[in-house]
This record gives sequence, structure tokens and C-alpha cells, in this order.
Amino acid sequence: MSTAISPTAYNYKVVRQFAIMTVVWGILGMGLGVFIASQLVWPQLNLDLPWTSFGRLRPLHTNLVIFAFGGCALFGTSYYVVQRTCQTRLISDSMAAFTFWGWQAVIVGALITLPMGYTTTKEYAELEWPLAILLAIVWVTYGLVFFGTIVKRKTKHIYVGNWFYGAFIVVTAMLHIVNHISLPVSLFKSYSAYSGATDAMIQWWYGHNAVGFFLTTGFLGMMYYFVPKQAERPIYSYRLSIVHFWALITLYIWAGPHHLHYTALPDWAQSLGMVMSIILLAPSWGGMINGMMTLSGAWHKLRTDPILRFLVVSLAFYGMSTFEGPMMAIKTVNSLSHYTDWTIGHVHAGALGWVAMISIGAVYHMIPKLYGREQMHSIGLINAHFWLATIGTVLYIASMWVNGITQGLMWRAINDDGTLTYSFVEALQASHPGYIVRALGGAFFASGMLLMAYNVFRTVRAANPAQAEEAAKIVVVGAH
Ligand code: HEM
Ligand code: HEM
Repeated sequence: MSTAISPTAYNYKVVRQFAIMTVVWGILGMGLGVFIASQLVWPQLNLDLPWTSFGRLRPLHTNLVIFAFGGCALFGTSYYVVQRTCQTRLISDSMAAFTFWGWQAVIVGALITLPMGYTTTKEYAELEWPLAILLAIVWVTYGLVFFGTIVKRKTKHIYVGNWFYGAFIVVTAMLHIVNHISLPVSLFKSYSAYSGATDAMIQWWYGHNAVGFFLTTGFLGMMYYFVPKQAERPIYSYRLSIVHFWALITLYIWAGPHHLHYTALPDWAQSLGMVMSIILLAPSWGGMINGMMTLSGAWHKLRTDPILRFLVVSLAFYGMSTFEGPMMAIKTVNSLSHYTDWTIGHVHAGALGWVAMISIGAVYHMIPKLYGREQMHSIGLINAHFWLATIGTVLYIASMWVNGITQGLMWRAINDDGTLTYSFVEALQASHPGYIVRALGGAFFASGMLLMAYNVFRTVRAANPAQAEEAAKIVVVGAH
């Protein structure tokens, strides 16, 4: 393998900034998750104040974990991966810096406006129009930086990870802009341009593809780079990765109506959403198997490498949640699961098990390289983090399955005379133990993030920036 000194070093500064903020927002978003989970156990924690009530903090939690934690992980890793696989620097440092500061500004805007009660009321698209416009500008700039870098690449080939990141960037822009078209009536109030069932359909076309493209496709880009890198093996099947890509992006976009079963949406649209969701199992598992099989011949590394364990277990949870999702999309199953904690369990199997675990693994992989260190300060602490995260996720989803099925069955139970067997409050009382277990699981997961922060802090403190810059200059020809 030959090495050459590139005339242009990579822009690691922006990657470092996003990597650090991934940890910071992860702690805040998940800490808030533990707080709202505790509010469902001890309602006194609502503190009788509007700003701290569950209804206002819940969307703040989802915005912080998805867009702040997940978003920073996606920005940071995509900038890292695109530079290394294209063997060139980002096209513009100032535009990259704008995406970092602009993104942080949007999040701070969410931190202020959501507790104050300003919201469009559309789930995962709550931010009012001034913030939504800022977000759109940042996102378009992100697209220009990412695709501009691809255009000026030094390699002939565009590595598959970039295809996934690219699709995530393009589709997220489309979803965000179309779903947010609205008429502002004041600085913090707007009305959607759509009405009735059309509004609902567009919102869940957005909502489901926020899952499909933000929480899945982007993280698959991460998977295609960091799993082979950490395992030091080439991807199992490059051909499968291309089939995986096209099948996934063609199918995901149709699945939104499974969020609107038994509503005013036309019946054929619901059935179409159901069928497309079931077919979606195939590319999802194709991708998972491709990632898993990359470890062929390297399974023994799992014994000693907790970073690889994070990455592989994330794939296992990805496989699990993409099996569960298609099942829940079947109308008869959905008639039981909808409105219950089963949905919440499914969400966090994907969110904690897949999204958070793969991001954590990727950040642990990148930090030493970004700061000129051989490895993280403590491998033992990564191992402890791994177990806290895994046990926390299992406690979370198992308790929500039990709660969800209990709720669904209690709500539909009827006596011979047609009256309901249980009142709503009885089902709520039956859910109480599950809520305690969920809060405990969340606390496990969030405390793992504190270990991560300490480990990152110690690694960064002992950084050797000169060595990191030097490493960024050396391009290994013929390797990514
Ligand atoms: C310590 C970890 C976490 C805890 C304790 C936690 C807790 C919670 C709670 C209590 C809710 C409200 C459930 C309800 O309305 O009944 C919720 C909702 C949600 N959380 Fe988390 N969460 C955590 C981490 C995450 C992460 C990392 C993500 C995403 C990457 C995430 C994404 C979501 C989403 C999308 C919802 C809305 C679900 C729905 O409406 O169906 N959470 N979370
Ligand atoms: C093949 C893949 C998947 C399919 C077919 C699928 C299907 C579903 C279905 C049927 C629901 C329940 C809708 C309802 O009753 O309202 C749901 C909810 C949800 N899923 Fe999935 N899912 C998949 C994968 C994932 C993954 C990997 C994640 C996360 C990373 C995820 C995140 C969510 C979220 C956040 C919701 C809650 C939306 C809300 O009501 O607020 N899903 N999914």
C-alpha cells in the first residue's frame, strides 16, 4: 500500500465540533427523556408549571434526540466519511462552519420556543416558521457542501456510504420544505397550507420518511463506513449494498399511511401503505445482513473491542425494529398496537438500539483519530457504557411491549352486555410498573452517556492536535 501526502488536509475542525455536540445533546436529550419518563411515574414532576409540563417537554425531547443528537452525529460523520472516501477536503470551510453554527442556532431556538408552547402541532415538525426557514437554509447549504465535495473527489468511485448520506440529505430537504408550507399569521404562529385528510397524509408522508431517511438512511451511510472500518474487513457484498440502496429508497417513500390506519384517509391508501411496509422488510434485512456478515472471519474481535460491539448490536436492533415495524403496519395488528406503549417501545428499539448505538460506536471510532490519539482514554469505560446501553434498551422496550399489549387488550375487552370491562384509569394503573421499569432503563442508558462524556473529555484533554492534522494530511492511496 503506497502513501502520498495530499496537498490539502481534511477539514477535521467541523467534524470535531459536531462530534462533541453529539455527546452534549445526547446527554441533554436523553436526560430529558428520563425526566419525562419519570413524569409518567410521578406526575408531581410536572411542577404545575406550563413550561415544565409533559406536553411541552415531550416534543422538546424528540427534537433534541432526533435533530440535535442524531443530527449532529449525521453531520459530523457524513463530513468525515465524505472527505476520507473522496480523498479531498470539504469544498468550503466557511459553508461547513455555517452549517454547524446554523444547526446549533436551530436547536437553541427549539430549546426556547417549545417549552414556551410555540408549535405547529405537527409531530417532528413542530418548529414554527422562522426556525423552519433557518433550518431549510442550513440544510440546503449542507447539501451544497456534501455534493460539492463529491463532485471534486479524487477517487473515481463514489463509496456506497455516500449514496446513503446523499439520499438522506436530498429527501430530508424535500420532506421538510413540502410539509412546512404554511401561512404565517404572526412571528410565532402559522397555519398549514393543507387541510383535513390531505394535511394528515402529508404530515405522515413527512413523519414516516423522517424515520426512513433521517433515522434510517443516514445511519445506514454511517454503518457502511464504520462497520467495515472498525472490523477491518471489506463490506460483505458491495453488490448487495447497491441493491439495498435502490430498494430501500424506492419503497420507504410509500409507507407513510401506516400511521393513519382506520382514519379518514381513503382505504386504498391505507392498504397501499400496509403492503409497502411489509415489502420493506426485505431491503431492511438485506442491509442488516450485509453489515453483520462483514464480520465474517472477524467475530473474535467482538470479545475485545467494545466499539465493534456497539456497532454490531445496533444492527441487531435495526433488524429487530424493522421486523416489528412491518408487523405493526398490518391493519389488524395496528388496531391493537396503535395509541399504546407498544408504539413507544418500537420507536425506542429503533432510537436507542439502532440510532443511538451506531452513533455512539461511530463517535468512539472517530474521536481518537480527530484528536491525534491512538485510542480512547479508557476501553474499560466504553465496555461499561456498552452494557449500560444494552441493558437500558432491553428494559425500555420489554416494559413497553408488556404495557402496550396490556393496554390494547384492556381497552378492547367488552362484557356480554357490550359495556367496557375496564375503565381507562384501570389500564393506566396496570401500566404503572412498566413506567417505572422504563424510567430505570432510560436512566441506565443516559448514565452510559455520562461515562462517554468523561471518556471523551479525557481523550480530548490529552489531544495531540498537530498529530491529528498530520494524520489528516496523509492519504493512503487505494484505501478509504
Ligand atoms: C434515555 C433515553 C430515553 C428515554 C428515557 C426516553 C423517553 C421517552 C418518553 C418517556 C417518551 C414519551 C412517550 C409517551 O408519549 O408515552 C419518548 C418519546 C419519544 N422518544 Fe424517547 N427516550 C429516550 C431516548 C430517545 C432517543 C435516543 C430517541 C431518538 C433517537 C428518542 C426518540 C423518541 C421519539 C421519536 C418519541 C416519540 C414517540 C411516539 O410519538 O411514538 N428517544 N421518549
Ligand atoms: C421496515 C421498517 C419499519 C416499518 C415498516 C415501521 C412501521 C411502523 C408502524 C406501523 C408504526 C406505528 C404507526 C402507528 O400505529 O401510529 C411505527 C411507528 C414509529 N416508528 Fe417504525 N417502522 C419501521 C422501522 C423503524 C425504525 C428503524 C425506527 C427508528 C429508528 C422507527 C421509528 C418509528 C417512530 C418514531 C414511530 C412513531 C411515530 C409516531 O406515531 O410518532 N421505525 N413504525
